Amino acid sequence: MTQNLAWPSGAEMPLPEHNHHVLSFLSSRRSSVAATLTAPGPNDDQIDTILTIAARVPDHRKLVPFRFLIIERDAARRAGEAACRIAQQREPMLPEALQQFEKHRFLRAPTTVVVIFKPTEGHKTPVKEQLLTSGIAAYNLVLAANALGFGAQWITEWLAEDRAFADYLGLQTNEQITGFVHIGTCTQASLERSRPELADIVSRHK
Ligand SMILES: Cc1cc2nc3c(=O)[nH]c(=O)nc-3n(C[C@H](O)[C@H](O)[C@H](O)COP(=O)(O)O)c2cc1C
Repeated sequence: MTQNLAWPSGAEMPLPEHNHHVLSFLSSRRSSVAATLTAPGPNDDQIDTILTIAARVPDHRKLVPFRFLIIERDAARRAGEAACRIAQQREPMLPEALQQFEKHRFLRAPTTVVVIFKPTEGHKTPVKEQLLTSGIAAYNLVLAANALGFGAQWITEWLAEDRAFADYLGLQTNEQITGFVHIGTCTQASLERSRPELADIVSRHK
């Protein structure tokens, strides 16, 4: 079941060892389309596990340039209505089908975690590195959800770039949305998508 998640700072950590389960897991991991995810979503203990693992990322100078906002149930309905209102301000003639899509955007899957980029400006650690850390936190979140047996999809769409929606969620002016990670129980298997050929992306410096 749940592994040790809380290592005291300074504890001697296990050395890496060959782990075919992890290799198999990583080499077959696949995102799920959010709309195919259904209840049950992760319970509170599982969300804690997922977010504890998500936060365990390489982080230059320990700035913790990310935080997580959980959207579920009624809050998911309200967030969708806010997204729809904003979409209609941007596009007054927004077709009914798109209005419905926006209203249901956070009801596609039982749980959404908003990964929020929270940079420390003017720090020795470049903002670019901090952004990378928030991105790998989002990816670790997806992996942890998968490892608990849930499907997950990292989505941005137009909403992640929309300041009015960031304000609606209560983000500070220096914060941005790294992504919405939708999590739930898979109803269907994903099909493999093409992956880069190593020959196209790997070379050896001479
Ligand atoms: C920063 C970021 C934003 C993304 N935004 C979207 C999105 O808005 N819509 C979408 O369908 N996929 C989006 N994706 C891609 C999916 O999360 C997923 O990676 C993709 O469908 C490929 O599947 P895979 O993870 O199994 O390789 C995004 C990925 C990243 C890293």
